[in-house]
Amino acid sequence: MAQAARKPLISGNWKMNLNHFEATALVQKLVYELTPDDYAAVDVSVHPPFTDIRTVQTYFLAEKEPVPIRIGAQNCHWEDAGAFTGEVSPAMLAKLDVSYVIVGHSERREMFGETDEIVNRKVHAVFRHGMTPIMCVGETLEEREAGTTEDKVTGQVRAGLAGLSPEQVGSMVIAYEPIWAIGTGRTATPEDAQAVCATIRATVRELAGGEAADALRIQYGGSVKPTNAADLMACPDVDGALVGGASLEAESFAGIVRYRDRA
Ligand code: 13P
Repeated sequence: MAQAARKPLISGNWKMNLNHFEATALVQKLVYELTPDDYAAVDVSVHPPFTDIRTVQTYFLAEKEPVPIRIGAQNCHWEDAGAFTGEVSPAMLAKLDVSYVIVGHSERREMFGETDEIVNRKVHAVFRHGMTPIMCVGETLEEREAGTTEDKVTGQVRAGLAGLSPEQVGSMVIAYEPIWAIGTGRTATPEDAQAVCATIRATVRELAGGEAADALRIQYGGSVKPTNAADLMACPDVDGALVGGASLEAESFAGIVRYRDRA
């Protein structure tokens, strides 16, 4: 299937940055920057910290025209409610018009002990509430140097997708984020990104069939900037970007959304 059939998704993962006042200022600028042509070509999501989501939702609802920017979250718990101090449930996110939830980001896997099994539970929970998971996978520098990138990534894909229907798999997003490229200014070459993203799609084909594999969107993440987005997006198996640092400024994030201008 041609790449054009998959609409690119560019997502801004703000991580633990920007209070709700700063969030309003950023989305205000983004609404001003992005045009109907941008939204026609690319799906866009922003993933603020939990404390900003209601503010962003309220800001969008107050606009005269509907704002096509989708609201995303960076994480959620796998249960709907209960005694889980400090956690946020997917049901709460769905109530805030959240469309996409990042699951299994490497920072959560590395610093907060998220295992493949937890990631899988969260993927199911996100679907249960009508939202779309963006499931992150990726290797460390040591794994890349040891030549085990493929094993690591396919293992994460297999475990993360366990128990999903082919329809669910086809509708979700996998973000390939090599850990050594996150926040380091070091980007995977388009060739390396393409090779791993093709492996991810082949694994999905094996697990969930051709239709799911052709429909699923794969993002690349790791030091994406306006200057390198076009080359990464030109890869046939790269269908979008998960952007950290460069999503905190409206101009650079909009520059990535408009990667076509530099292609
Ligand atoms: P950077 O774009 O800051 O490297 O972060 C990538 C990332 O982790 C997005 O989820």
